[in-house]
Amino acid sequence: MKITVVGAGAVGATCADNIARKELASEVVLLDIKEGFAEGKAMDMMQTATLLGFDTKITGSTNDYTKTAGSDVVVITSGLPRKPGMTREELIGINAGIVKGVAENILKHSPNAIFLIISNPMDTMTYLAFKALGLPKNRIIGMGGALDSSRFKYYLSQAMNCSPNEIHGTVVGGHGDTTMIPLTRLATYNGTPVSNYIDADTLKKVAADTMVGGATLTGLLGTSAWYAPGAAGAAMVEAIVRDEKRVFASSVYLEGEYGQNDICMGVPVVVGKNGWEKIIDFKLNEEEQAAFAKSADAVRNMNNVLVD
Ligand code: NAI
Repeated sequence: MKITVVGAGAVGATCADNIARKELASEVVLLDIKEGFAEGKAMDMMQTATLLGFDTKITGSTNDYTKTAGSDVVVITSGLPRKPGMTREELIGINAGIVKGVAENILKHSPNAIFLIISNPMDTMTYLAFKALGLPKNRIIGMGGALDSSRFKYYLSQAMNCSPNEIHGTVVGGHGDTTMIPLTRLATYNGTPVSNYIDADTLKKVAADTMVGGATLTGLLGTSAWYAPGAAGAAMVEAIVRDEKRVFASSVYLEGEYGQNDICMGVPVVVGKNGWEKIIDFKLNEEEQAAFAKSADAVRNMNNVLVD
């Protein structure tokens, strides 16, 4: 198994580090445009191998795509992250060019790869990759909902003073501060609705905190987060390479599901060796479905920037 991570910055390096520690591949290639950067990150990580006891070989490459040849899974994190006060959407101009160029170069050398798109604005970048590459839709997956759902479970666990691992919760819709939809009605604590344990106002605050979870971290850190995004990317890679059939909210190309067409947005999907394998129908109620449609309008407006 060979995995390439494009972008050796904060998110890409963290993702590669997690992949190596979990020994998800015999080889991980980190590729970055910045001279020597990926090589340096790869060398630093390899020097943890005897300390952490993993056997994955990590190599770095400055923009040499021949090194990525034959990858089974490719994670794309290249592009600018947001700064405090910025939205993910403001990154589109620069990141669209980067993601398209990178994806096309990767495909030339890894024609069978499954693509996991992380660069922002992620739903639009996933749509762009789908349109540019012309691959079957199940091989293009956007990572956003896995992270947002993990943040949702964190905020719920804080409010309920319990372990986040006892909570199930999913965030669907677009991966933006105003477009994501934490599904509070469907969140459970050990199989029972979380509304049994916290009042409606607290639940509303949890949802609001989740939606600006990334912005909160950007304010604290001065740049966007990396531990949880990198771990979320690696968890999805793990589901692919181990054919786990785990369900992650992920941005995938919709053809009528959840009432939407010709758009990539976050919905619960089964992830396994073929990429995303099936969309799960959560049977949203009217209010949730309306929120999903409104979120789709915003994502579609962003997609339209690509052709304007
Ligand atoms: P970063 O700035 O630390 O790393 C980005 C790396 O991409 C840099 O090392 C840069 O040299 C490289 N790069 C730029 N153009 C390239 C090209 N053409 N080819 C190869 N490498 C190139 O940024 P960070 O924090 O790692 O974030 C990366 C992206 O992921 C951003 O767009 C950010 O908004 C997004 N992100 C998405 C999340 C999600 O849930 N989908 C969560 C967190 C970040």
